[in-house]
Amino acid sequence: MKESILVRGGRPLLGSVEVQGSKNSALPILAACVLADGVSVIENCPDLLDTAAMLDILEYIGCGVERSGHTVTVDSTDIKRTDVPDGLMHRLRSSIVLLGALLARTGRASMSGPGGCELGQRPIDLHLAGLNALGARARECGGVIKADCGSRRGGEFVLSFPSVGATENLMLFGTCCRDGVTIVNAAREPEICDLAEYMNSAGFDVRGAGSAVVHIGSGKRPERLVSHRIIADRIAAVTWLCAVAVAGGEAELIGAERGHFSCVADLLEASGCRMEKTENGLFVRSCGRLSGGKGMIRTGPYPCFPTDAQPLVSTVMTTARGCTLIEENMFENRYSHLGELSGMGADIELNGRFALIRGVDTLCGRTVRTHDLRGGAALVTAGLCALGETRVLNIGYIDRGYESIEKTLESLGADIERVTEENEDTEKR
Ligand code: UD1
Repeated sequence: MKESILVRGGRPLLGSVEVQGSKNSALPILAACVLADGVSVIENCPDLLDTAAMLDILEYIGCGVERSGHTVTVDSTDIKRTDVPDGLMHRLRSSIVLLGALLARTGRASMSGPGGCELGQRPIDLHLAGLNALGARARECGGVIKADCGSRRGGEFVLSFPSVGATENLMLFGTCCRDGVTIVNAAREPEICDLAEYMNSAGFDVRGAGSAVVHIGSGKRPERLVSHRIIADRIAAVTWLCAVAVAGGEAELIGAERGHFSCVADLLEASGCRMEKTENGLFVRSCGRLSGGKGMIRTGPYPCFPTDAQPLVSTVMTTARGCTLIEENMFENRYSHLGELSGMGADIELNGRFALIRGVDTLCGRTVRTHDLRGGAALVTAGLCALGETRVLNIGYIDRGYESIEKTLESLGADIERVTEENEDTEKR
C-alpha cells in the first residue's frame, strides 16, 4: 500500500505549532548514548523514521531502548556487538556516526557505508582520515568499513571542510583518546553544540563547540545517568515559516530559535514577511505577494544559508515577484524538486549548481514525486499555494524528518490529507 499527501491549495494558515525536536541533533546524540555506559534519558526526541532506525541499531548492538512519547531512554550498560548490518546502516545517513561512538566505547567497529537521501556523492573520506590521524585504524574496503581504536593517541586534526558528520565522529572518538583531541575547522552547526552539551552532561569534557576549534579533553569518567533535552528543529521551523510565506496568514512557531536560522529569516523578512520574537518562539505573518531577488541564496556550512532550507525557500521564490538566483554548494542533486515545480508552472532555469527562478503569478496543482526529504516538504509547501489539487508521491522520504507534516499543516488550517492508495494506477500522472 502506498501513501501520498493530497493538498488543496488556496487556504491561508493561522494558528500556532510546536516545533518538533531536531532530527539532526537527536541522531548523533542517540549514537553518543553508546559512550555513556549507563542510562541516558533523552527528551524532546522526535518520533521519525530516522530516529526509529537509529533506535533499532542501538537495540541490535545491545542497548536497552524505550520510548514514551518524546522521551527516549537508552541503557548502554551492555554493548554486545560492534558490527552494524547493512540493512540497518542503509536506513539513514547518521548511522555513520556510530563509527566514532563504537570505537570509543568498545575499541572496534565494522559496518557498511550509510544510507540517507540521494543528494549525490556523500563521501566519508574526511571521517576516516580524521579517525586515522587521531590513532585509530579505519579502512573502507568493498563498501565495508572495518576499524579498531589503534593507539588512541589523539592530538590535533584539521578538517579540510567543516563536515558536520566528520566533526561528530571525531568528537565521539576523541573521548577515548589518551592526549585529548583538537578539531580545527570543525562544523559550527547548532546540532554540534547540542551534541557537545549532551557529552558534557555525560561527564566528558568538550569545549569550543559552536566555534571552529573544538577540544575534547581526556580522562573524564562517564556519568551513569544522563539527562538531556534536544533543541528545536531549525529546518522544521523553516518549513513552517515557508508554508506561511507561500500560503499567506500568520502563525506562532513555539520553540523556534531565530538565531539558528538567521539567514533564512532575514531573507524572508526582506522578501515581505513580518517576523517577531515572542516569549515562546517566533511569530510570522505573510500578506500579499512576496518580492524575490532580495539577495542571492548561496548554501554553505553554518552560519551560511543551510542546504536543507534551499528547497523550501526556492519554492517560496517561485511565486515571489522578480528573479531569485540560487547557488547550491553542498550537494549536486539538491534541485530535484525544481523539475517538479516546473511541471506545476514555475519558471526555472538550471545551470549546474545555479538556479534562476523567475516568479510566476501562480502554480497549478498536479501529481509530483519527491526524491528526498526536504525536496518533499518543499513540494507539499508548493501545494499550499497552487491552484487545485497537488498530490505528492513517495512520501516515505518526508516521514524520515517530519512528525506528520500533514497534521501540523492541517492544524494551521491547510486543506491537506494523507491518502492510502490500494491501487497503484492512481500514481499515474
Ligand atoms: C549535511 C549538511 C547538514 C545537513 C545534512 C542533511 C552542511 C555543511 N552539512 O550534513 O547541515 O543537515 O547534510 O541534509 O551543509 N564531504 C566530503 N567528505 C566527507 C564528508 C563530507 O567530501 O567525508 C562533503 C560532502 O560531500 C558535502 C559536504 O562535505 O558536499 C558537507 O558534508 P557534511 O557536512 O559531512 O554532510 P552531512 O553531515 O550529511
